Amino acid sequence: KPITIIGMPMDLGQGRRGVDMGPSAIRYASAQNLLRQLGYEVEDIGDLSVPSPESVNIGDPQLKYLSEIRQVCEKLADTVSGVVERDRFPLVFGGDHSMAIGTVAGVAKHYQKLGLIWFDAHADLNSGETSPSGNIHGMSLAVSLGVGHHELVNIGGFAPKVHPEHVVIIGARSLDPGERELIQHLGIKVFTMHDIDRIGMARVMDEAISIVSRETDGVHLSLDLDGLDPKDAPGVGTPVPGGMTFRESHLAMEMLAEAQVITSAEFVEVNPIIDRENQTAKVAVDLMGSVFGKKVL
Ligand code: ARG
Ligand code: MN
Ligand code: MN
Ligand code: MN
Repeated sequence: KPITIIGMPMDLGQGRRGVDMGPSAIRYASAQNLLRQLGYEVEDIGDLSVPSPESVNIGDPQLKYLSEIRQVCEKLADTVSGVVERDRFPLVFGGDHSMAIGTVAGVAKHYQKLGLIWFDAHADLNSGETSPSGNIHGMSLAVSLGVGHHELVNIGGFAPKVHPEHVVIIGARSLDPGERELIQHLGIKVFTMHDIDRIGMARVMDEAISIVSRETDGVHLSLDLDGLDPKDAPGVGTPVPGGMTFRESHLAMEMLAEAQVITSAEFVEVNPIIDRENQTAKVAVDLMGSVFGKKVL
């Protein structure tokens, strides 16, 4: 399918400046060129506009920037939905992970049953009640599952966007108590770093792919760069040691490409301000190559 790139300079969902430059950093790392070389028709429709945190009120400290995030996620949902309507593959560059509320809402509108791969050090399953930070980037998966503040949960006019049995989390190693409870309660499949170490990424991906593609008619990949080890992807706002390696992450992307299941994707949490020579955006583009079918031989 032809690809449409959307930039989402979102930084309201967390507390560190610079992640709004993620889309530029990913473009600077030659994303478009790579995809063209792989044979895709690519268009870039530019960035959506997101107010800067200095220009708006933080609001409820347990749901920081709630009303602004709701507004820009509505807009992102509409934009993504329009791309799917034109029969193109939406590829969104971020931006902090709160943006996934909009991306997932936009794609979910077009699928009866959407599979979701959440590649992340975190589960992003908090709510205003359980969050230790009040940062909405730690709540986006919960919101997509219909758990959380109604203004977020009902973005796009329907809820939930995905069902727990079609969701897998890969790479988790930092969970809050309320998130553990929700995982138990909803029965979400989580492949932690422990699982990856024990059975290897190849088996993890075999199982993950079978879960997200069972009975589904589309699969969204939400890839938080902090899923990788900070040695490989240092430019992220909430790094956690002991993550997936460059090689494991590539294998995961290659297996997704082979299985031909992904119908939309987003690469999030790239923060060039805290990076070293744009390494994290480069890794993001490298992984993009693999998930769009780049092979050594
Ligand atoms: N669990 C922590 C919180 O709720 C960290 C979330 C980090 N999320 C992310 N998308 N990087 O604040
Ligand atoms: Mn900004
Ligand atoms: Mn994360
Ligand atoms: Mn995340």
